[in-house]
Amino acid sequence: MFREFFGFRHKPFGKTPNPAFLYESPQHREALARLEYAVEEKELALLCGDVGSGKTTLSRALIDRIGEARPVILIVNPALSPAQLLRSIASGFGLTPKHHRADLLDQLYTKLFELYESGREPVLIIDEAQLIPTKATFEEIRLLTNFQLDDDNLLSIVLIGQPELKERLGHRAYRALRQRIGIQYSLSPLSEEETVRYVQHRLQVAGGGTNPFTIDAMSAIHRYSEGIPRVINTLATTALLDAFGDESVTIDGARIAAAAREHGLDGRQR
Ligand SMILES: Nc1ncnc2c1ncn2[C@@H]1O[C@H](COP(=O)(O)OP(=O)(O)OP(=O)(O)O)[C@@H](O)[C@H]1O
Ligand SMILES: [Mg+2]
Repeated sequence: MFREFFGFRHKPFGKTPNPAFLYESPQHREALARLEYAVEEKELALLCGDVGSGKTTLSRALIDRIGEARPVILIVNPALSPAQLLRSIASGFGLTPKHHRADLLDQLYTKLFELYESGREPVLIIDEAQLIPTKATFEEIRLLTNFQLDDDNLLSIVLIGQPELKERLGHRAYRALRQRIGIQYSLSPLSEEETVRYVQHRLQVAGGGTNPFTIDAMSAIHRYSEGIPRVINTLATTALLDAFGDESVTIDGARIAAAAREHGLDGRQR
């Protein structure tokens, strides 16, 4: 296996949003800090970023940081009607959702109040929020932010999605929800320097001794991936496998270019 060949204990460029590998680029760090603030202040937060930019990884890191302090309800497939959304939230609290909307809302409010009294206000995280089908479901989310006591919200809500989510919420029809967003952040791609640090970081977490990527390879990785972490991972894994096949302990720019061709990314080269 290439892992032994390069001396890694773990796969360095896995596909899963594993927070153990989190590289805190300045923007990932800032995004996480804002999300933690949103949780503390029980705000409504919006995190956007391109496909593969690290949104889900950040949500997992946030959940790790929250730990046992608060219950977290994570919805990863929000293609839900308003009623389905409320039911998913109730199930997330371990409740058996009531059938009628008014009863269901009562049930949720009772639970939220109970958690408030024990100082453990929950966090609702909706990933892939661009998949929310209709405005009605967004309205339901907005109404959840009305669960308040005096000046205190009873829960925090984190909406995560691709850039079209932000665009959609920018439309006039969504202004009531938009006004309630207290915290927002958009992830942008990694710079070349950050790409190098990202690769080094993942190699280090994987327990690798020496970095097989030459400077030339690093700059090719950045060029072909355009700084998108998921694409960086794909290129790096392909190049590692390829180098292992050739028993080569170094990876140069040409090997990255071959990996990019294999994944149809070579058209991206400027
Ligand atoms: N800051 C980071 N540190 C370490 N790995 C990261 C980071 N950002 C992204 N990755 C890695 O890149 C890949 C894609 O990340 P992730 O799934 O979080 O992206 P996403 O923005 O949620 O993408 P999508 O829009 O497709 O849902 C994962 O393998 C993840 O581990
Ligand atoms: Mg994701």
